[in-house]
Amino acid sequence: MTIRKFTEDGVESFEAEIDGEKIQWDAGLSYARHLQTERLLSAQVPVSDKPDEMLFIIMHQTMELWLKLVLHEARLAAAAIKADDLDHALKTLDRIATIQRHMIHSWEVLATLTPHDFLTFRGFLRKASGFQSHQYRELEYLLGNKREDLLLVHTDDRAAHARLTAVLNAPSLYDELLRLLARRGFAIPASHLDRDWRRPYEPSDAVEDAWLTVYSAVETHWDLYALAEKITAIEYYFQEWRFKHMKTVARVIGQKMGTGGSSGVAYLVKALNLSFFPELWSMRTRMVAPREGPSYATPADGGVAG
Ligand code: HEM
Repeated sequence: MTIRKFTEDGVESFEAEIDGEKIQWDAGLSYARHLQTERLLSAQVPVSDKPDEMLFIIMHQTMELWLKLVLHEARLAAAAIKADDLDHALKTLDRIATIQRHMIHSWEVLATLTPHDFLTFRGFLRKASGFQSHQYRELEYLLGNKREDLLLVHTDDRAAHARLTAVLNAPSLYDELLRLLARRGFAIPASHLDRDWRRPYEPSDAVEDAWLTVYSAVETHWDLYALAEKITAIEYYFQEWRFKHMKTVARVIGQKMGTGGSSGVAYLVKALNLSFFPELWSMRTRMVAPREGPSYATPADGGVAG
């Protein structure tokens, strides 16, 4: 096979033909250099000699990579909302939801790890646990679950601690959404527009009323309605991820304590009641049928709709 050498844009380049296809590469940027595959693929370092540890490592690493992208996109979504650029916010939220669905589905791979498989190397993990994932905590803070006490876990990692502190002290995605509602003329209480952002979010009747107004006149508030539904989907998928994690953990370790020291499954079950955007959920109970047009609450036969 002959390789033709040439120079393009000042870069040494190569061309060959394989099976009638022209193949090109150059000495500048390659797949491996761009994607840093050497670094990426040398980052799987088992602490045991047990074959199933590789699955455990790669599952966590791929989740961390997706978390990195979700965080990146969530920051963009918050910035777009802050800049009243709802078109971009909607597109970004769609991408986040698609990644979340992929992450949820990927639990199926870890579910092939049986309790026996895990026990062969669990002891080697010592106190290491996903509980110490700073990206996961950052995402929770960014979305609005402000739990300052959990910062403690990251005391040893100064860079992570500083970044988490900054996100804790800043408005969350939901806070930005409420500021958007205020700019659009909704009566959002001052206490929800500027506050000590480190404190956990307190649901407000006035915020619930504002969302109810949006959902009661969707044609008038279409962009806010579309945005609210995308935001709701993010929490819906986040909870599904938590549920799949909890269920996978129950399948693998039963009711044993976690390596991070918590009660294990019982701790993970508690998180299923957390809500980032509480009024977007509570408002739904108060919704009634639209006043105009065919009513979906009173069917033609006079029966009562479910
Ligand atoms: C066999 C696999 C797994 C087991 C047995 C397991 C077990 C646990 C347990 C028991 C906890 C509670 C904290 C503790 O005491 O350790 C926990 C927390 C956590 N795990 Fe896993 N886990 C597994 C896989 C994963 C994977 C693949 C990820 C992906 C990043 C992950 C991310 C997390 C996170 C983020 C938390 C903290 C949740 C929170 O604070 O609400 N885990 N895990």
